[in-house]
This record gives sequence, structure tokens and C-alpha cells, in this order.
Amino acid sequence: MATTSPVHSTGSPRRRSLRGRALFTGAVATVAAFAAVLVATPDANAASTLGAAAAQSGRYFGTAIAASRLGDGTYSSIAAREFNMITAENEMKPDATEPQRGQFNFSSGDQIYNWATQRGLKVRGHTLAWHAQQPSWWGGLSGSSLRQAMIDHINGVMAHYKGKLAAWDVVNEAFNEDGSRRGSNLQGTGNDWIEVAFRTARAADPSVKLCYNDYNIENWSYGKTQGVYNMIRDFKSRGVPIDCVGLQTHFTGGSSLPGNFQTTLQNFAALGVDVALTEVDVTNSSTSQYAGLTQACLNVPRCIGITVWGVRDSDSWRSSENPLLFDGGGNKKAAYTSVLNALNSAGPGPSSPAPSGSSGGPSPSTSVPTGNGNRLLGAQSGRCIDVPSASQNNGTRVQLYDCNGQTNQQWTLTSSRQLTVYGNRCLDAAGSGNGSAVQIYSCNGQANQQWNVNSNGTITGVQSGRCLDVWGTGNGQQVQIYDCNGQANQRFSLS
Ligand code: XIL
Repeated sequence: MATTSPVHSTGSPRRRSLRGRALFTGAVATVAAFAAVLVATPDANAASTLGAAAAQSGRYFGTAIAASRLGDGTYSSIAAREFNMITAENEMKPDATEPQRGQFNFSSGDQIYNWATQRGLKVRGHTLAWHAQQPSWWGGLSGSSLRQAMIDHINGVMAHYKGKLAAWDVVNEAFNEDGSRRGSNLQGTGNDWIEVAFRTARAADPSVKLCYNDYNIENWSYGKTQGVYNMIRDFKSRGVPIDCVGLQTHFTGGSSLPGNFQTTLQNFAALGVDVALTEVDVTNSSTSQYAGLTQACLNVPRCIGITVWGVRDSDSWRSSENPLLFDGGGNKKAAYTSVLNALNSAGPGPSSPAPSGSSGGPSPSTSVPTGNGNRLLGAQSGRCIDVPSASQNNGTRVQLYDCNGQTNQQWTLTSSRQLTVYGNRCLDAAGSGNGSAVQIYSCNGQANQQWNVNSNGTITGVQSGRCLDVWGTGNGQQVQIYDCNGQANQRFSLS
């Protein structure tokens, strides 16, 4: 069982807390201002659940789920109503999934997976390699035999869930508080065990995002944060496959929201990875800390979502701290409202690329069809690029949707490289950076409305040089532009 230590200051505690308070007060004031607006003029468009509110900016809001609680109607109905990303609290960990060597057991993990996906919720995988909750038989191994057991475990579990999950926490909690590597049995197999885990994972399922996950990495000036940051930077510089960093965000057990949390998120994201808050809980559900951590994520384009570590206080691994968004009776707490209001105040769109991979140089194709009535079919999703509700309004973001042959899914490639819909609206990039929205707009001949339909299946924006990209495969997934990476979620055929 893991324990989360309090954040110990590496600098002057007094200075840190004053700075934290100043920044933090700003965040609270901002949220309070939005809350006031919402009260004064109720926004008909404000979402009424956490998942829907997060989705307005392309993010998710998730929870950890315990398979043993799914039979509790209050629990499961809150979970299905409020959240759109699910993490198995224990059921996909190594002790659960490979209790004996080579004998995998996915019964509890699948119970959660099936429950979630039957309700249209996505699933994060947690976790493949960790010092805790290991199968007992790992205890008898060391050196190359333990290394091989880890590799076999990753391959076995990832094969089972191949193509099904939004992300995997490949490695969990591998650092000490001072930023050095934790002296676990896995570390004992050699310092390269983490990159071996990530390389193994990428080969096992190239479609899933691969995350490093840890606690007490929320404070930018903390040793452990720096240790993890340096590893991610090193991985990115050497091409070790990694897509995301999960900050557990346990503001329990003596920890609390640091004033520089957003800086930490920004700095990780600047390395070229997504960031996510993966196991949020807050002592006594401080509304200001919940609002502040939510706002910090919303302020960072590559912060793709937030997961709380349980549904009701009574479900929490730290239930004595009442750290969640629903009380033991399933009632919404004040912290729930503070999070919902913050989410409802967000503007559109985080950026979120597919897993990094090879980026072959595409060339414009000479054989794509032109003329009326072509659909833009996503290779990974099997779904079509669609204008929601057949809207003709400028600025309507396009999405994936089941192909239906309607006019809002019919795209025409013109000789001037426009992709038109309804005759007079063009596929238009709202910006040129990673994560920029792709929308419809009155055709104007500008470069942000010109597209190369390439022989390798990608469609690149003439202005940005970036690829049409989609983060997931489901109905409603929004289309964006992102650095071309050769993955299937960036391939669309005009046919
Ligand atoms: C916890 C679970 O919530 C408990 O039910 C279990 O007994 C121990 O593990 N960091 C992690 C999570 O990555 O997997 C841990 O979950 C909490 C700390």
C-alpha cells in the first residue's frame, strides 16, 4: 500500500506559503467572480455534470472506481452520471492482473472496463509497473528475471486491453522525495527499467497514451518534481516513448495545493507531453483548493483532464479526511460546485496529440477525388468528419460522428485546396498551433483554409504544416490540428 508523504519544503517554508497564498487567492478570486456571474445570470449553456462541463473545453473529468462497489446503486449512478473517464482503483494493478506467473486474471479489471464502456465512459489503465501491489511471486525474483517478469507482465496486460484504453500509467511512483530514484526491486534491475517499460509498452499497443504517474510532484520547487521532470526531459530528448505525466494530486495526508501548481503543469507540458491530474483528493474538500487545482488545469492547454480518487467520502482510501466531491450519502458537497463552476467558466480546447511516433514526410497526393459528396473518413475511428447539428454557423467546430451521408459530412476538395461543405463553408483552422480547433467558416481563400490531402493518408494545413488530428474515436470527438506523428488518428480518407 502506498503512502503519500506530506510535501516537505526544500526552501523557506514561510516564503513558500506566502507566495502560495498570494497566487492562490488570485485563483480563488477568479473562480468566485465566475461563480457570481453564474448566480446572477444563469447560463443556459452551463453544463450540469462534471464530465459534461469538462468536455466543453475538450477535457475529461474522471473518477477511480472499485469493482466491489458497482453493485451499490447510489455509487454507480453518481459515477455514471458525473464522470466520463474511469480508472480502476486496484483492479488493473500487477497483483490483480497476474497473480501467478503467466496466469493473467482480468475479471475485475474487465468488470470495470465493461461497466464504463457500456455507458460511453473512457478508461485509463492503472498501472503496469510499481513498487507496491506487486504479485507475491515478484518478491522471489531479482535482476534479469524480475526485469523479464516486468516485460512479460506489460506485454500480457497490454495485449488484453490493446486499443481499448485512453492511457496507461506505465510506471507509477518511481522517485524518492529528494528526486532520486526509489530503491525498489524494479530499480534493482538497472536504472534503465523505466525506459524499458515504456519501450515495451509502446510496442505492445502503439495506440494508447503512455504516462508516468507520481505523487508529490505538484510543487515546482520540490526535489521530487525536479527529478521526474529531468527524467521526462531526458526521455523526450532521446526518443524514449512517453506521452503524458500524471500528477496524482493527493492534497491529503498533509499535502496541499502549492501556489506554483500551474507552473509545474506548464513546465511538464512544455516538454511535449500531456499532463493530467490523476488521483485528486483534498483534505476536508477545501473548496478553494479544489477550485484552484481545477483552474490550474484549465489554464494549461495540455492539461487534458482531472480524475478524483473515488466517488463519495466513504469510498475514499483516506475516508477519514472526507476528501471527495460527494458526501457519504451521495450528496454534492460545496467542493463539487466550486469545481463545476470552474469547469463551466473555461474556454474551448486543450491540445492533445496522439502518442508520439514516427513522422514520415507526407507528400500531397495526386489521386484524391474531387467533386461533391466525399466523406472524410477517420482511419482509426471509422467515423466521419461531421459538422455538429448540420450547423452552418461560422466557428462551428467539426467532430467525428457515425458516417451517415448527410450534407454536413460531405466535403469537396477544390483546385485551390479548400475543403468545402454546403458549397460555401470551408474547413478552417482557428489557429496554427498544436491543438488549434478545426471549424467551418465562410470561404475566404486564406492559407488556414487550405489543406493538402497527402498520399500517406494525412491531411495537413497549408498554414500550419500540422495534421488533422483527433484524440479519441467516439462520436463527438473534436478535430484539431497537431504535429504530424504517423499515427492512425491522423489519417483520414476522402472517399
Ligand atoms: C490506493 C487505493 O486507493 C487503495 O484502495 C489501495 O489499498 C492502495 O492503493 N497512489 C496510487 C494509487 O497510484 O494506486 C493508490 O491507490 C493511491 C496512491
